[in-house]
Amino acid sequence: MTCEDIQKKKLSFPSDFEFSTIIIIMPLNPNQIRSQFPLLTEEITYLDSAATAQNPQSVIDAINDFYKTYNSNVHRGLYPISDKATEAYEDARLSVQSFINAKDPSEIIFTGGCTESINLVAKSWGKANLKKGDQVVLSILEHHSNITPWQQLKEEIGIEIEWIDISEEGELDIDQLDRVLSKGKVKLVSVTGQSNVIGVRPPIKEITDKAHDAGALTLVDAAQLIAHHKVDVQDLDCDFLAFSGHKLYGPTGIGVLYGNKELLKNMPAFMTGGGMIKEVTKDSFTSTDPPEKFEAGTPPIAQAIGLKTAIEWLSQFKWKDIEEHEQGLLSFAFEELSSIERLNIIGVNGIRNPESGIRKVSGCLGFTIEGVHPHDLTDLLGEKGICMRAGHHCTQPLHDKLGIPASTRLSIGIYNNEDEIKKVRPAIEEAIKIFE
Ligand SMILES: Cc1ncc(COP(=O)(O)O)c(C=O)c1O
Repeated sequence: MTCEDIQKKKLSFPSDFEFSTIIIIMPLNPNQIRSQFPLLTEEITYLDSAATAQNPQSVIDAINDFYKTYNSNVHRGLYPISDKATEAYEDARLSVQSFINAKDPSEIIFTGGCTESINLVAKSWGKANLKKGDQVVLSILEHHSNITPWQQLKEEIGIEIEWIDISEEGELDIDQLDRVLSKGKVKLVSVTGQSNVIGVRPPIKEITDKAHDAGALTLVDAAQLIAHHKVDVQDLDCDFLAFSGHKLYGPTGIGVLYGNKELLKNMPAFMTGGGMIKEVTKDSFTSTDPPEKFEAGTPPIAQAIGLKTAIEWLSQFKWKDIEEHEQGLLSFAFEELSSIERLNIIGVNGIRNPESGIRKVSGCLGFTIEGVHPHDLTDLLGEKGICMRAGHHCTQPLHDKLGIPASTRLSIGIYNNEDEIKKVRPAIEEAIKIFE
């Protein structure tokens, strides 16, 4: 049974069918939410959701149920538990399709994670379409996952990488993007939807429009954006979009690549092997159509089921409520951190745009403290159960631009509350005293 067969089965559902589970919209009650996450005990102040978010019990149960009651391979067996696994796996694709408003389920490719999704685009679309001298535009905010695959193409085929800078306010330099695009050599603009260090959100729709006007495609790295704001690929009009399940309250080991149907159809397979062929002879093979074409081998079945459950879990809440709750926490964290002597919040001067007043920082705040190394700080905070990340956060070019080798990051998820943020300032002040 292929994705297409499952889709045909699904067509017997009413036309507004979206999820296989009915979702009731719930008011956002942070404490009630927190109680659904078994790892979040009193002893843990988890402020590292930008690295990986915790899983609600329903996600853990769904994965457990798969392994206990219908663990089997997909698209292969004809016996009942294999059929059930195939249906659950393809249901997960429908959930993702609906969640990001893709036009067609075949536009959803399951990968091992956001990193693999971006590599897929570079190694499949990039190798087939780019030639020496073609340009790929990246922003200085990018995670290494959205840098190194393009650097490999620079080495292998001689493409050029153009970098777009940010202002002191953390805003992407759109004039610079215009100048680069006007030269007519850009084939792809590949940018993050939300920085994993300073939390700023580049204006993706504007960037997509500009790139398309200049004849270039766009890839959005939505690894951070996906859990904090509504992502609608048709509205953004992006050509590719990548994210990971584990930053969306789902399991590790699964990611998504959204790709425009026509583009995916014309791209060569990224990996080859079982599950993605029409026919193999001793001399050659022919590929199936997307999505299977890009899912060689046994896919992440339990992870897809977990991701579907995570999406259904998150979809109980309105984006407006999620944004309000998280922005409230981040504003509070900004005030608390700003009041600490010698602490410098990096990359942004505030979490609101001073002109428009629109909140422009989401998910995280990055900071440094004069005289205290981020690793030493997070070590001490860790002893108090406060989990934060230190280092370059896989964004060395951004740290070079900011003139720092490393930073500390406070990042939040839907389950955090003000009481947790309140623990941070005294703990940091105590750490500063120790290092004085
Ligand atoms: C902005 C951004 N892009 C890509 C990635 C890579 O995600 P993964 O390690 O899940 O592949 C991350 C991970 O932190 C990220 O923050």
